[in-house]
Amino acid sequence: MCGIVGYIGGKRAIDFLLDGLTKLEYRGYDSAGVAVNCGDNIFVEKAVGRLDSLKQKLKNNLPLGNIGIGHTRWATHGRPSDTNAHPHSDCHGKFFVVHNGIIENYLKLKQDLTAKGHKFISDTDTEVVAHLLEESYHGDFLLAVRDVISKIEGSYSLVFMSKENPDVLICAKQDNPLVVGIGENENFVASDIPAIISYTRKTYILNDGEIAIVQKDSVQFVNRQGLPINKKIFNVTWNAAAAEKGGYEHFMLKEIHEQPKAVRNTISPHIKNNSIHFDELNWNADFLKNIDKIYIVACGTAYHAGLVGKFYIEKLVRKLVEVDLASEFRYRAPIVDENTLVIVVSQSGETSDTLAALKESKRLGAKTLAVTNVVGSSIAREAEFVIHTAAGPEIAVASTKAYTTQLILMFMLALYMAQISKTVSDSDAERLIEQLKKIPAQISETLSDVEPIKTFAQIYGFNDDVFYIGRSLDYCVALEGALKLKEISYIHAEAYAAGELKHGTLALIVEGVPVIALATQKSVYEKTLSNIKEVKARDAIVIGIAAEGDTSLSNYLDHVIFVPETDELLIPLLAVVPLQLLAYYAAITRGCDVDKPRNLAKSVTVE
Ligand code: G6P
Repeated sequence: MCGIVGYIGGKRAIDFLLDGLTKLEYRGYDSAGVAVNCGDNIFVEKAVGRLDSLKQKLKNNLPLGNIGIGHTRWATHGRPSDTNAHPHSDCHGKFFVVHNGIIENYLKLKQDLTAKGHKFISDTDTEVVAHLLEESYHGDFLLAVRDVISKIEGSYSLVFMSKENPDVLICAKQDNPLVVGIGENENFVASDIPAIISYTRKTYILNDGEIAIVQKDSVQFVNRQGLPINKKIFNVTWNAAAAEKGGYEHFMLKEIHEQPKAVRNTISPHIKNNSIHFDELNWNADFLKNIDKIYIVACGTAYHAGLVGKFYIEKLVRKLVEVDLASEFRYRAPIVDENTLVIVVSQSGETSDTLAALKESKRLGAKTLAVTNVVGSSIAREAEFVIHTAAGPEIAVASTKAYTTQLILMFMLALYMAQISKTVSDSDAERLIEQLKKIPAQISETLSDVEPIKTFAQIYGFNDDVFYIGRSLDYCVALEGALKLKEISYIHAEAYAAGELKHGTLALIVEGVPVIALATQKSVYEKTLSNIKEVKARDAIVIGIAAEGDTSLSNYLDHVIFVPETDELLIPLLAVVPLQLLAYYAAITRGCDVDKPRNLAKSVTVE
């Protein structure tokens, strides 16, 4: 969730630093800072709050130096403040460092360094790294960095700048992403590709334990022991426009409208001759026979996608699936062994809890599969098997196209497993694939008339509480719909399994309370209808979400939003769309910062 940038070359470093940090704003932050080596002095500026505050401070005082580092911080150790903002320095201003992650043994290190006379000015774990470097430095910058790395425990991507070594930036990586972008007589460093794609497509993606020595015209890599590493260049295929808003007012709206394409791109590599293929898995019947339990582990929206994935696998493959929040799973002594398949779902591929759950599953001997949107991400590299959603970069904090692509990929995964284990008939598989192929066009259809949703959002935009109800897969979608509304409009929204209402929550349903009722699941339709009648009888204002062709719901409700008809397993991909739009327009009505909701971050790389 913090952002790192670095520049070394012939141009004014500050220009890239500020632009790169702007491109990383979506990651969430609460303060920002830069340090630029200007030869005789190191220029440092920091500001709490948005990048604009930093830019304001720099306005008439832009440093001219050609080497610099910058950072956007999301507070973990110490409150957001100018002092706690990065870059951090040692006692004498010789070394500057920016850091993403957490130094777990920083207190012990701080005590030792304090005893040696080091003076600390911030509350951060990162400052320890700068003082440690000062302590380790005896004329060889790289040697000193390697010494620091051997002493710190925890997760980090680090970029170091030294006053005495003005021709080099040194970077180190463990459990946090870091890339080096290769330019002409200039090189870039960033925690994420969007910071650098408008400058270069040629990158090196660092692996854990690697150290990069970045100079103006060269990049070298060594391991912790100082031995050279040969790395391949990774060519980024995203275009710069893909990471920009493309005419929409917000990234979130753009990403909602990108769903037909994102889902189509996710589907197309896996359908051949009317059956589902995953060449990257190449599983067979024996492999699946040996799996007696499946966990799906994730956080946030990806967890909600996992809940849907459970339905898919249980229904089509007839294997037990448990869905767990990664932050719970890792500390719960989960019952995992070599006959367990652990599927981790993560858009970014960097979520700290999900990564830790994956590592724990591997340690326990499980087979591991990552479902992720980011090629080369930490989770993708850690898992035994990887399959990718093709959502493209998702910038808005509130996840939309990542969710629908995760759903479709998990649907195909379940069908793939069902084909292998012969738990689905050929004719059923064919029918489902036919329905699957229609989904992108059906999402477009769902997106074609947003006006009624805008109107509802204007009405609900000023309510304090909204309830979402549904049964079966509708309940899973209700959870995601409520999360969307909470995240970006700050309206209190709760989702309940419709059948559970009468065990408590019905006490909150009184005249005028808005309820969004999903009734797309044919197998539980009548049951859902009676729950809808229960809330209607208490004078709630109910908006229904139903499949086209449903003629009964309108008899009970004033407002029904219809989505195209498809198999009930696939309808979540359509039913979630009006809920995303409802959340979006409610947030707009309330004047909220849709793409950067308060207190939230896109990628949560700390616990
Ligand atoms: C954060 C984001 C959510 C996301 C969750 C998991 O909380 O704000 O939108 O669903 O992290 O992220 P991941 O990248 O692992 O899917």
